[in-house]
Amino acid sequence: MKYANNILETIGNTPLVKMNALVEDVDALVLAKYETFNPGNSVKDRMALKMIEDAEADGRLKPGGTIIEGTSGNTGMGLALAAIVKGYKLICVMADKQSKEKIDILRAVGAKVMVCPTNVEPEDPRSYYSVSKRLGEEIPNSWYVNQYDNPSNAKAHYESTGPEIWEQTEGQVTHFVVGVGTGGTISGVGKYLKEQNPNVKIWGVDTYGSVFKKYHETGVFDENEIYSYITEGIGEDILPKNVDFSIIDGFTKVTDKDAAIYTQRLAKEEGMFLGNSAGAAIKGVLQLKEHFKKGDVVIVLFHDHGSRYVGKMFNDDWMRERGFLDEEAAVATDLIKDHQDKPLVTVKTEELVSHAIERMRKYNISQIPVMDSQGLVGSVDESALFTAFLEDENKGATPIKDVMKAPYPIVASNTSVEEISKLIKDGNQAVLVALEDGKHHIITKYDIISHIK
Ligand SMILES: Cc1ncc(COP(=O)(O)O)c(C=O)c1O
Repeated sequence: MKYANNILETIGNTPLVKMNALVEDVDALVLAKYETFNPGNSVKDRMALKMIEDAEADGRLKPGGTIIEGTSGNTGMGLALAAIVKGYKLICVMADKQSKEKIDILRAVGAKVMVCPTNVEPEDPRSYYSVSKRLGEEIPNSWYVNQYDNPSNAKAHYESTGPEIWEQTEGQVTHFVVGVGTGGTISGVGKYLKEQNPNVKIWGVDTYGSVFKKYHETGVFDENEIYSYITEGIGEDILPKNVDFSIIDGFTKVTDKDAAIYTQRLAKEEGMFLGNSAGAAIKGVLQLKEHFKKGDVVIVLFHDHGSRYVGKMFNDDWMRERGFLDEEAAVATDLIKDHQDKPLVTVKTEELVSHAIERMRKYNISQIPVMDSQGLVGSVDESALFTAFLEDENKGATPIKDVMKAPYPIVASNTSVEEISKLIKDGNQAVLVALEDGKHHIITKYDIISHIK
């Protein structure tokens, strides 16, 4: 009979799968190292087990001990499986930007989960780096894993992932592309592959809001590059010891939007239901395509499974809210949807400048269409009133008809945003849209700016 003695023995030996539709424009053979075949559904099972085994071996982790780690979920899952089989307790400390599914999954495998705020400095006592470290100091018989700086992380990939890729490609691998978080995967695999063949090129995929790319290119740790981003699993605001910059040939940065879109495309066009960093990684491959030629063998490593992202990248409402869906071009009615229910504020030709000013103040608006019995006949805006005021401080008593400007252009409700923008650029302060019920509504510069994603 052939069987594993426990779930940990099924870690590793994941398949390489040829990419097809998504890489049509790439000259090289692109093969995915498909890590979701690991029992915890991610590459992190490998390093989680290795970190525990090494800590057991040198006495940092003792029988019945508590394992503590700051983890976005995947390392936690690997640690949880090993903790169950080996009889340890596990506390996972997570940042609150991580998907709820990841937290629920960790609880399902017996981990205690603590959630910390994302938008605080790593040194802040509330950050998940600081909380994990503190718990490690306070809880008796505990061991703080610290995947960022723990050398067993990269070593796991040096000993398993790297050799697997070398053997599966029969030494023909020419490029390795992978998202970088702690750096364990890229550094371990990269070191092994370069030792076999120094010509293998190692590319990291980074996010906007992370320090890696600039640091690699210039040696500068630029705090201005740090801001919160949506992509999960890759990019950092620290330099983990596991990132060995000397074996990385270059980084490419992928936007949150592209990473999300390509996560969906992997599922829909390749049947590869994978996590967000896989979307970033394959987009990274496409961004780097001029570096690959015919005959090259490019390995892209996909870290984790799509099930952890069903409430996010696989949820179109979530995608739409962030402007990540390239839907049909927006039209006039899309620009007014936030205030369409409010009546159009107007002023009559015979009313006075002071009335228009009062109305602008009351409704917090900067321009008003002017009406008479015939309909819309003119417009007043802040700049017209300001000019009038400069000419005569007592202009408040002047009738609107004496200071008004030309009426705003009227467009149909299905006019494109592009056309409306042109009308505003041509000097119109606003545009009126004719609605089906015969009424009009106003589109201002602010509505167009708000629409930009
Ligand atoms: C989903 C996902 N992608 C990518 C990474 C980055 O891998 P590494 O930490 O080995 O650089 C991680 C690590 O946390 C991850 O969880």
